[in-house]
Amino acid sequence: MAGINSTNAEFGEKARLSKSVALVTGGSRGIGRAIAERLAVLGASVAICGRDRAALAESAGAIEKLGTRSFFQMTDVTDAARVTELVSKTEAKLGPITILVNSAGMGLFGPAHEKTEGDWDRVLDTNLKSIFLVSRAVIPSMIRRGAGDIINISSLAGRNTFAGGGIYCASKWGLMGLSGCMAEDLREYGIRVSVICPGSVATEFSGRGPKNASKALQAEDVAHAVEAIVTQGPVSFLSEIHVRPLRKP
Ligand SMILES: NC(=O)c1ccc[n+]([C@@H]2O[C@H](COP(=O)([O-])OP(=O)(O)OC[C@H]3O[C@@H](n4cnc5c(N)ncnc54)[C@H](OP(=O)(O)O)[C@@H]3O)[C@@H](O)[C@H]2O)c1
Repeated sequence: MAGINSTNAEFGEKARLSKSVALVTGGSRGIGRAIAERLAVLGASVAICGRDRAALAESAGAIEKLGTRSFFQMTDVTDAARVTELVSKTEAKLGPITILVNSAGMGLFGPAHEKTEGDWDRVLDTNLKSIFLVSRAVIPSMIRRGAGDIINISSLAGRNTFAGGGIYCASKWGLMGLSGCMAEDLREYGIRVSVICPGSVATEFSGRGPKNASKALQAEDVAHAVEAIVTQGPVSFLSEIHVRPLRKP
C-alpha cells in the first residue's frame, strides 16, 4: 500500500484552504505576518495591509513564494474610506474574503493618568475601532454566502489588568466584548467569530517587549491557533483561545 510521502503531504496541506481568501490586517510583520504565511502554506490566497509599503511588498513576496496568490494595499485601518477600498480591491483581485484576521494593533503602556487624549484615541482607534471598521466592510458578503471566519487578535491583557496597562487593556477588553457580541450576531449566518488572547510574543510590538525573549511565545504559536480555528469542523467553532508560554518568561 502506498504510504503518504512528503509530496502528497504537502498537497494535503495546500488543499485544505485552496478555495479560501484571507485578509490579514497587520500582515507586514510580527504576528500578522506569521498568520498570513501560515494561511498561505495551507493554500489560501492572502491579502495583507499595513502602513509601510516596503514591508508589505516584502511580506507579499514571501507569501507568493509559498505558492499562492497575494495582494497588498497600504491602508491605515483606522481610516474607514481606505478600509472600504481595501476590501473591495481584495475581493476584485482574489475573490470573496472567507477569512478575516484582525491582527493590526499597537501597544502603549504607562499610567493612564500620564497619557494624553491623543494617546487614548490612537490606541482605541487602532486596537478597537479598526476591528469594527474592517469587519463591517467584510461581513455583508460573508452573510450573502452564509459562511466565514473572523479572527480577532486580542491579548491576555483583554482578560487581565496590570499597572501601566490602562489604555491598552481598555482597548483589548473592549475587543473581547465586541468579539463576543459579533459571534452571537453572526453565528446564525454560519459565520464564526473567534478571539485569540496571546501572552507576550517576541515581535517588534511597540512598548513592552517580553522579559525573556527565549521563553516568550513566537508569532508562529499564534499562527498555529489560527490554523486550529480555520480547520475546525463546520458545525462548531473555537470561540476564545488563550495562548501562554510554557515557562514564564
Ligand atoms: N507582541 C505581543 O506581545 C502581543 C501580545 C498579545 C497580543 N498582541 C496583539 O497582536 C497584534 C499584533 O501585534 P504584533 O506583536 O504583531 O505587533 P507588531 O510586530 O508591532 O506588528 C503590528 C502590525 O500592525 C500594523 N499596524 C499597526 N497600526 C496600524 C494601522 N493604524 N493601520 C494598519 N496597520 C497597522 C503594523 O504595520 P505598520 O506599522 O506598517 O502599519 C504591523 O504590521 C496586536 O493587535 C497586538 O495587540 C501582541
